[in-house]
Amino acid sequence: MKVLVTGGLGYIGSHTCVELLQNNYEVVVIDNLSNSEVSVITRIETITHKKIIFYNGDLSNKSDIQQVFQQNEIDAVLHFAASKSVNESLKKPLKYYKNNISNMINLLEAMMEFNAKKFIFSSSAAVYGSTAQQPISELATTKAMNPYGETKVIGEDLLNDLYASDSEWSIVVLRYFNPIGAHESGLIGEHPNGTPNNLMPLITQVASKKRSLLYVFGNDYNTIDGTGVRDYIHVVDLAKGHVSAVQKLFSTHGLHTYNLGTGEGYSVLEIINTFEKVNNVNIHYEIVDRRAGDPAVCFANPAKAKEELDWSAERTLEDMCRDSWRWEKNLENRILTNKN
Ligand code: WQD
Repeated sequence: MKVLVTGGLGYIGSHTCVELLQNNYEVVVIDNLSNSEVSVITRIETITHKKIIFYNGDLSNKSDIQQVFQQNEIDAVLHFAASKSVNESLKKPLKYYKNNISNMINLLEAMMEFNAKKFIFSSSAAVYGSTAQQPISELATTKAMNPYGETKVIGEDLLNDLYASDSEWSIVVLRYFNPIGAHESGLIGEHPNGTPNNLMPLITQVASKKRSLLYVFGNDYNTIDGTGVRDYIHVVDLAKGHVSAVQKLFSTHGLHTYNLGTGEGYSVLEIINTFEKVNNVNIHYEIVDRRAGDPAVCFANPAKAKEELDWSAERTLEDMCRDSWRWEKNLENRILTNKN
């Protein structure tokens, strides 16, 4: 089986490529390197001792996509290539609608042209907004609170309409909660361009003294210690969820939606304390005002993925903190020694 992974050199994409290769799928990657590095290819191949086929292409350019399908018999597509910063989406909504919607339409049109109709969509817990009852099930209404989340709601609606128009499609929508951590090899991980938005890369940068202080956005929420609670999931568990979803694509038709989360919620202070304990480091932080748009609590009911994909997260918060720190230290060594 040959699968196309768009954005396959990115954080979640690269971890998914590793799991696909280790499950004997042939992997083709198209990535425009806007938020990734070409050196990730060698590192994926080092981990798996297998080769990937790479296209430096952009989904805004239909001929880039068509070339992949002309040169490869693609059995399924996993679509990661998209912009994912909530903050940035508030400042540049048109970039998000273009990257996350019109590029997705380009991809789906090319799939129709080459009669490849098995598709996995990277969606997000951001589709649930802040009113959902916790833990959140897939039946909760979707009501995004920012342009990024809205692009995921629209993407899901688009796929529902596509399937309604042509039942030959087999589609799995995966709603990620908060992916953190890195592969145990320390060779791949989250390497955001510029200032990270998300909590864990900021924690690791404070721990490595790239950053002097972590700002904790509010400690007056109605939670265990007043700080925000989220469902953090190890990126390797998330990647394994995609392999289970690919297997689902080949066993049924239809459109299926799953939360990929652990079902556990942890507060910001619990993350900080666990990170400090596991890695024997100090995280300097300061409590500041809440961040606009943040829900107090957001964590998954993961029962449906367990039931229908036979998948559940296995790695602990300690694993996530340990693996995040190993990656940060390796990243620093690689930058210092200018290695790939
Ligand atoms: C986590 C917690 C913050 C930074 C977003 C997207 C979601 C998904 C994951 C793409 C919250 C607190 C954070 C900081 C802090 N991305 N925090 N100080 O907002 O839950 O989810 O990223 O799919 O779609 O919405 O993640 O890591 O930004 O925040 O106190 O400097 O950490 O308030 O409670 P979030 P996050």
